[in-house]
Amino acid sequence: MTKIKACIFDLDGVLVDTAKYHFLAWKKLADELNIEFTKKHNERLKGVSRMRSLEIILEIGGIKLDDETKLQLAEKKNSWYVAYISKLTADEILPGVEEFLKLAKSNNLKLALGSASKNSMLILNNLKLVDYFDSIIDGTKVSKAKPNPEVFLKGAAELKIKPEHCVVFEDAEAGIEAAVNAGMHSIGIGSPEILSKADLVISGLHEMNLDKLCVL
Ligand code: BG6
Ligand code: MG
Repeated sequence: MTKIKACIFDLDGVLVDTAKYHFLAWKKLADELNIEFTKKHNERLKGVSRMRSLEIILEIGGIKLDDETKLQLAEKKNSWYVAYISKLTADEILPGVEEFLKLAKSNNLKLALGSASKNSMLILNNLKLVDYFDSIIDGTKVSKAKPNPEVFLKGAAELKIKPEHCVVFEDAEAGIEAAVNAGMHSIGIGSPEILSKADLVISGLHEMNLDKLCVL
């Protein structure tokens, strides 16, 4: 028997591979600013808020800007990113995602989204995934970024499930830390080296089953 009563999912990199679109949009902005921005640098942006992502890129380039200019640049990047994700279709849902959401739901587990993205609803609508979730907490509802646990604690509170009965699925190191800080179980999606603080690491939800919840 599992003590898990709720699954909380990060969005970008867990349900859909949007990291590539974030990269393309940030790369375009970095090119305009003459900042060298590589895929390795991009790893540092995972799970991090839009403004913090911009600040990391400016740090890489050794550039300091005022708040007004930073807001304009973040907005510019977002308009390019939104152009990409507006064309997302259900084909871009990562392997095994819908199967596991259905399996969890049919076994009476509550499902929540816990994402830093302010574009979560646009993505979930385009992927037709909205109806799976009992609670959706996204970047429009939180003020503290991961590794702060706010996003996951709000989800658990909406579901009325105690943190110790929740498991978080995350692809970002900051996201696993947020789950640990929330007092929740965690399953990393990706590399065991990067996600070493997770209770278990898998390469994607296609590897997930209910037995894996029993060992948490
Ligand atoms: C997270 C991504 O899910 O959302 C980050 O991992 C991104 O890379 C953050 O910066 C904020 O996203 P958005 O869509 O609000 O710019
Ligand atoms: Mg993510």
